[in-house]
Amino acid sequence: MLLWDDSLATGVPEIDVQHRELLQHFNDFTEALVQGKGRVETGQMLDYLQFYAQWHFEREEKCMEAYRCPVAAANKTAHQQFLTRFGQLYEQYQACDVDFQVVAQTFWELQKWFIQHIRGVDYHLNTCVS
Ligand SMILES: [Fe+2]
Ligand SMILES: [Fe+2]
Repeated sequence: MLLWDDSLATGVPEIDVQHRELLQHFNDFTEALVQGKGRVETGQMLDYLQFYAQWHFEREEKCMEAYRCPVAAANKTAHQQFLTRFGQLYEQYQACDVDFQVVAQTFWELQKWFIQHIRGVDYHLNTCVS
């Protein structure tokens, strides 16, 4: 389970709320997999997670541009990489040609990426807004 704590704070409350929300969605999906929920239900969760991540990335990119954050371009590139990888997982999942272990492993990597991305890139917002 991924828990948000102050070490992940970016200094922009709106962005922090979205990060918390995303972590919750990640946790909910993992929990649903563990509980053996059906493919339709978990597929919808994955669908929403993809939508919300994309929406968050757009908001955050605008925010970094507004504050002229030096990592704005790197942030945008990283978001694209995440969405591409997530899109692959989503397609595999919808096509039902992948087993539980593969989905769980890929999903875990994406979660890890997300936390590392907040710490390594999004975190720079702190220095831009202060
Ligand atoms: Fe980001
Ligand atoms: Fe972010």
